[in-house]
Amino acid sequence: MEQKHLNHNDTVNLGSFYTPEWIVDIVYSMIRKNVPDSSQYHILDTSCGYGGFLRGKNAIGADIDGAAVKTAKERSPQHIYIHQNSLLDISRSQYGLDKNSKIIIVGNPPYNDTTSIIRNSIKKEKFERDGAVFSRDLGISFLLSYDILKADFVCVLHPLSYLIKKANFESLRSFKDSYKLVDSVIVSSGVFSATSKTTCFPIIIAFYERVSFGMDYNYVKNFEFKTTENKKFSLSQYDVIGKYISKYPNRNKINANETVAYFYTMRDINALKRGATFIDKETYNAVRVTKQKLPYYCYVDVFKEYIPHIPYYFGNSDVMINNEAFTELKDLFVYKSVQRHPKLSECAEIKKPYKDFEKPVQGYFKNLLGEHYVD
Ligand SMILES: C[S@@+](CC[C@H](N)C(=O)[O-])C[C@H]1O[C@@H](n2cnc3c(N)ncnc32)[C@H](O)[C@@H]1O
Repeated sequence: MEQKHLNHNDTVNLGSFYTPEWIVDIVYSMIRKNVPDSSQYHILDTSCGYGGFLRGKNAIGADIDGAAVKTAKERSPQHIYIHQNSLLDISRSQYGLDKNSKIIIVGNPPYNDTTSIIRNSIKKEKFERDGAVFSRDLGISFLLSYDILKADFVCVLHPLSYLIKKANFESLRSFKDSYKLVDSVIVSSGVFSATSKTTCFPIIIAFYERVSFGMDYNYVKNFEFKTTENKKFSLSQYDVIGKYISKYPNRNKINANETVAYFYTMRDINALKRGATFIDKETYNAVRVTKQKLPYYCYVDVFKEYIPHIPYYFGNSDVMINNEAFTELKDLFVYKSVQRHPKLSECAEIKKPYKDFEKPVQGYFKNLLGEHYVD
């Protein structure tokens, strides 16, 4: 059931984009596959909305949104409901559970960046949280709360970026130390009808098991992710541009007199899609480009042109590169980039291109992406 009772700002601020039933079905099939005797467990959704994730005999739902809880009760009165801020005074006793209770957490916690909350539409206390779960991102706070509850299993949706961006992964603190990703499927944010469809990002339906030793970043790098389109990939299968050039402002490393051009800070592929590449002036976000490294920045400039051929599930990944193949075609990339940024001709060494230079560049991206290339 789609969320109907909130206005736009409250929907965004509470992250109240409810989950389609076919995704809840995936969550339950993962639970059946990975938890022996799953009927012995309490099912808990601490951000339950209308209760779409609650199934079975022992299900408990909680939400900060009183109207949502009321609707949930009317729809499925057999479950237990609590109207509360689930990130405050976190404990099993909040839910009538004790240390012996077996718990599986399900759901789709809100995942907005709390610094981009739409002003004035919501009272600040809605974002109060226990210090132990504090994070810039509300979704990361929820993951941390599952560790405080010591849930045996967690099967929830969250942005893939929580795992694959190293800084986010580190901010998972105690959660990553106590839980291991066992099973997962990636879906596009576009499946949530009310969210922006212009730039979709990957959301993972992640099944975690509580273990003595959780996971480190290497574990994530080598994990084989699957998507709802039946594609498979792991981060370790790609080399990334950050290995060859600076992605972030590097004023303290490169002198002004070595600088031949400026490039906008590089975040992930989705940010590159929306943002600039070469820029005219040195700004706060500018990366200094040296003559020697210029071809790599031209590479990123051309990569941006090929983003429509890159699937949504790489949206939060770094720009990938096959350095060997690129080195052979370097002149073509520089040539293409100079065509778009004529000022670069002052500093770039431009070799006369082959007649049909689009073909090899396209061939390069087809090879780089393999089965992931979007035609
Ligand atoms: C993405 S919706 C998920 C709703 C439901 N589980 C579903 O998927 O259909 C996120 C829910 O989190 C709730 N929420 C946001 N902050 C909360 C908090 N601090 N404590 C409890 N619930 C919260 C919102 O009210 C919203 O219902």
